[in-house]
Amino acid sequence: MWRGAMLHDIGKIGVPDSILHKPGPLTEEEWEIMRCHTTYAYELLSPIAYLRPAIDIPYCHHEKWDGTGYPRGLRGEQIPLAARIFALVDVWDALINDRPYRKAWSREQAYQYICEQKGKHFDPNLVDLFLSIAAPDLAKAAERQVAGEDEAQ
Ligand SMILES: [Fe+2]
Repeated sequence: MWRGAMLHDIGKIGVPDSILHKPGPLTEEEWEIMRCHTTYAYELLSPIAYLRPAIDIPYCHHEKWDGTGYPRGLRGEQIPLAARIFALVDVWDALINDRPYRKAWSREQAYQYICEQKGKHFDPNLVDLFLSIAAPDLAKAAERQVAGEDEAQ
């Protein structure tokens, strides 16, 4: 898992710098090239025996629970568990940090987004657990709110 996480975007070495470092939004054609980084990772890592067990994250970290991800459009538990966990970590990290093309979101906004993507982008069974670790204060506040709403009914 650690090796896979460290190597998750290794396939980007096959993507031109003009796309990787482009300050503005990518065109559809550029996105198509960018999406190849997972397949490049597979091609790069699979011949290396000791890295083969680490391939799930580099190859599958852009798959989505609902089957709309890439490169293979896997859905649900077809997506290796390590990649489902890593997808949460990767998106959370991307949202709460500045990117060349956008400022960091607040933790509250990122929390909300991850919740909205439960069962769409992310494994619904992992979202609550992930958020309880990544943002325990927000998860507890959300729990209290739900409990309060239940009592009010
Ligand atoms: Fe990636």
